[in-house]
Amino acid sequence: MEICRTIFTFLLVVFSIQGILGEQCLSDQWPPNSDRVVPTHVVNLDLPPTERWKEIAAVYKPAIIDLVDYIKKFVLSISPELQFLVSLVDTKLPAMADTLPVPYGDEMKGISQATGVPLGEIVLYNIFYEIFTLCTSIVAQDQNGNILHGRNLDFGLLLGWDMLNNTWTLSEKLRPLITQVNFTQNGQVLFKTTSFAGYIGVITGIRPGVFSISMNERYGLKGGYIGLIEWIFNINRKQSFVTFAMRDMLTKAESYDQAVKYLAEVKLTAPCYYILAGPKSGQGVIITRSRNGSDDVKPLGKDNLWFLIETNYDNWKKPPFFDDRVTPCIKCMEAKGKNQVTFQSLFNVFSSRPMLNKLTVYTALMEPATGRLESYWQYCRDEEAPCAPW
Ligand SMILES: *[C@@H]1O[C@H](CO)[C@@H](O)[C@H](O)[C@H]1NC(C)=O
Ligand SMILES: *[C@@H]1O[C@H](CO)[C@@H](O)[C@H](O)[C@H]1NC(C)=O
Ligand SMILES: *[C@@H]1O[C@H](CO)[C@@H](O)[C@H](O)[C@H]1NC(C)=O
Repeated sequence: MEICRTIFTFLLVVFSIQGILGEQCLSDQWPPNSDRVVPTHVVNLDLPPTERWKEIAAVYKPAIIDLVDYIKKFVLSISPELQFLVSLVDTKLPAMADTLPVPYGDEMKGISQATGVPLGEIVLYNIFYEIFTLCTSIVAQDQNGNILHGRNLDFGLLLGWDMLNNTWTLSEKLRPLITQVNFTQNGQVLFKTTSFAGYIGVITGIRPGVFSISMNERYGLKGGYIGLIEWIFNINRKQSFVTFAMRDMLTKAESYDQAVKYLAEVKLTAPCYYILAGPKSGQGVIITRSRNGSDDVKPLGKDNLWFLIETNYDNWKKPPFFDDRVTPCIKCMEAKGKNQVTFQSLFNVFSSRPMLNKLTVYTALMEPATGRLESYWQYCRDEEAPCAPW
């Protein structure tokens, strides 16, 4: 009931303010102030999996505990579909760590030891992003064939609205956990991610000179829960978790083509959109995934487009009227033009409403050819201009 009323209120609000809000296409947003630069930590892949996250876990322990408590107490109590997880946190989830592919189970155990948070709760923290991530991703190519890739991460929809502050409580609790991670091997950076401390899968990542990748949630008829249930109850474990498959490719893929092929074919626990970019001209793609295959693969250059945009809807369909971030995003990209494909112009697009909304916690910018990655905290404040809840 409470949720229905909240949704209804928001629909009304969005309806009524969309006209007033208009759409923005800002400039001069990049680089933002230094206090918005997300810090970088290192995960050394040469260490045993249980040791790798010790340092990050020590730094972020209080924020991880705070978030896990919130998820348990509040989120699970308002979202009936997740009730099944509550009862499993103490009974089934700790054992689940041992069923995960190497090295993920051991890494979770290490984080549990270092934070003192029970293993079942760390597992919960690590599987729950597969269910709640909204986003905008863009891949764009300039006239010289250089490719950039960016994304806004929007997180926390319907997971509790803070009436006092007009914010999504979960989005606020996540912000302190945002970090960049350098994954190193033999003293070299193998790949980099923008992530949440203690979260071992990948939502945004880049392997220098090879490819960059972002994942957006896809709401499916056969949603994320089914794959998860199949896994937990050992009905089917011949599938990959969406964000682990990404990390697998960042670890192993030698080429853009190899990553695209694998991520288009691997069996998954949940539907999603994979957005990839490569170091060479023309290398950009949106892979629309169902659990057992891809429903569509849209390459850069199709329909003569120099950019690709994906939010959370199938790109060949019209987005729903209450959440159309695509149309304003296309307009803004076209206004900037093909001769302005830079971190600056992409960041300006991602900082413009409604690409920027109250769920947006960070923007990441990537250049596959050089391995450059920049991540910034994002805030959508009503004081500056009215801001849509999503
Ligand atoms: C992470 O890697 C980049 C190179 O890609 C390097 O410039 C940066 O200093 C590294 N950060 C840390 C904390 O090691
Ligand atoms: C609301 O914001 C204020 C100041 O930013 C903060 O101190 C307070 O904890 C927030 N309230 C809640 C319920 O999060
Ligand atoms: C996925 O699996 C379902 C049922 O097992 C089947 O009906 C469907 O055709 C499959 N889709 C793809 C793309 O393989």
